[in-house]
Order: sequence, then structure tokens, then C-alpha cells
Amino acid sequence: MNGQSEVITSAPGKMIILGEHSVVYGKPAMALAINRRFYCKVSLADGIYLNGRKVPAFIHPHIRSVIESNDAPGIDLNAGTEIPTSSGLGSSAALSASMSLAVRKLMNRSTDLGDIAKDAFKAEWDAQGRASPIDTSTCTRGGGVALNCPVGIGKHLWTISKNDKSWDVSEFEVPKMTFVVGHTGIKAPTGPLVEKVRKFKEHNGFAADIIDEMGIIALQGMNAIRRNDKEDLGEIMTRNHKLLSILGVSCNELNKLVNASLPYSYGAKLTGSGGGGSMIALTDRPKEVCEAIRLRGGNPIVVRTGEEGVRIEHDISGKELDFQ
Ligand code: MEV
Repeated sequence: MNGQSEVITSAPGKMIILGEHSVVYGKPAMALAINRRFYCKVSLADGIYLNGRKVPAFIHPHIRSVIESNDAPGIDLNAGTEIPTSSGLGSSAALSASMSLAVRKLMNRSTDLGDIAKDAFKAEWDAQGRASPIDTSTCTRGGGVALNCPVGIGKHLWTISKNDKSWDVSEFEVPKMTFVVGHTGIKAPTGPLVEKVRKFKEHNGFAADIIDEMGIIALQGMNAIRRNDKEDLGEIMTRNHKLLSILGVSCNELNKLVNASLPYSYGAKLTGSGGGGSMIALTDRPKEVCEAIRLRGGNPIVVRTGEEGVRIEHDISGKELDFQ
């Protein structure tokens, strides 16, 4: 060990702009880091302590997984977040990436981003049973991240494999854009929704075609971003929302917020696993979109592209964090 007794880290949340769910089946997808972060203050301990209380390991699969990946004895973790939990905005991925950096630093292990992304993906997989690395890679790398995009569109970062699946992760240059995230207030954990799509696919032959179509339009969206063509990107996002609705992962509340945003946006869709959680709208009129979302009972936040990935923090006093 390097003698350091406590480390403070943070990682951003994320929004998937195209390709959630279909990415689990190896299709292309794209996500952006958002300017809401998860903070971890970590020291090594005998057992698991969370915000001052000893907790059994099985209660927190993400924490247990990161500890095991790094042969740590246990940790004393103070976790505080600006990202609403179970909201489709990557709070568990940001927790995993942030914890991995801290534990690796304390155990004097590599803090290479690729190694952190792999720890964080394993933690999501262990907790959810099935996952793609899109959330964890985006919260680790920050900025814009694309999975399974053709050579030449992004710069290859790392490859992550599990069972018979493999995902190529690239960083992706993203122009300055403004999105409004609308939170429905409904908590919807990812695992059951991923399972719902798996069952839907098992019982409906046409689901595979929808998933293929989602992959095709995600590639079209990547090209639209490269051209900085917001009209085209927005239209593709709205099409992606319709396909996700057919897969059964939207809900009335999400549809209401998407429809309320569309008159003031290039396009809008649910983001993340759906079933509640959040939607996003690409817009040049964030005020109007926020107002429309509020009027339909949602909770809006304006986010901009270009947030940094996982990092060491030196001073987090003064931050308004939700300690869970
Ligand atoms: C959740 O944010 C995104 C999903 O595609 C699941 C995953 O990729 O792990 C629904």
C-alpha cells in the first residue's frame, strides 16, 4: 500500500442519446457525460461501512464487486451525489467508477481509465445480471462515448467482453449542445427493465428487427453529430423513442414529457433504461422546454456537453450532496 489513508473521487452521471437496450445486444450506441457528479470519500477498512454504518456485503453488490476486483479488505465509504438515483442518469455507474478509482489508489494499483471502466462494468454486471459497458465507460471517460461505432468515427478506447458479447468503446468528439433532462420522479432500476426486454425478445420475433433498426439509426445519429446536424439528430432521437416504446420500456409519464418538449426541441426521447426515470430533449430553447416539462409534472435540469470523467477531488466542502 502507498500509505495514503483516504481518497476523495468523483465521476459524472451520463445520458444515453441513442441506443439504450439495443446496446445490450451489441448494437451501436452513444452517451454523453452530464454535469452532475457522484462523490466518494474512501478509506480501507475491515468490512463495509457506508456513510458511517456497517452494512452486510450482499446489500451492496456494486461495492462488494469493486472491493473483490481489487483484493481490498473492505472499505469505509462516504458517498454523496448530485445525480438522482434510479433515474436513468447513471448514478450506480458513477458510484462504481468513482469507487474503483479510490480503491485502486488506496491499493496502489493501476488507475488507468480502461482498468477502472472494466471494474465498473463488472460491478454493474454483478448487480444487474446483464448490462452493457455504455454507462460505466461514459462515467469513466467523460465527454462523449460511442459503442460499436465504425472505425474512423471515434477513437478506440478499450474493448470490454463478457460471455459471448464484446463491445468496442470509443471516445467521440461532441460539439457544444444543450439538452434538457426531464426526470419523471419515478424510480426505475435498470435490471428489471433489461430483463423485460430480454423476455419480450424471447416471445416476439419482430423484437430482433426493432433492435436491429435501433442500431442502424444510432449509426445515422453518430453521422449527424459529426456534421453537427441537430435537426437530423433530433429526428433520429424521436424515432429511437418510438422504437423503445414498442419494446415496452416507455411509460405514460415519459411519453407526456417527451410530447411536451417536442414543440421546442429538435427531438426528444427517454434516456437509460426507461419505465420511469428520465427523458432528454435536444434544444436551443431550454427555458421553454423546462417550463413545458414542469407543467406536465416533471423535474427539468439543463445539461451541456463536455463534462470530465472520473477524477481525484481535493476539496468537496461546500457541495450540496445527497448522502444516501
Ligand atoms: C441503462 O442506462 C442502459 C441499458 O442499455 C442497460 C445497459 O446498457 O447496461 C438499458
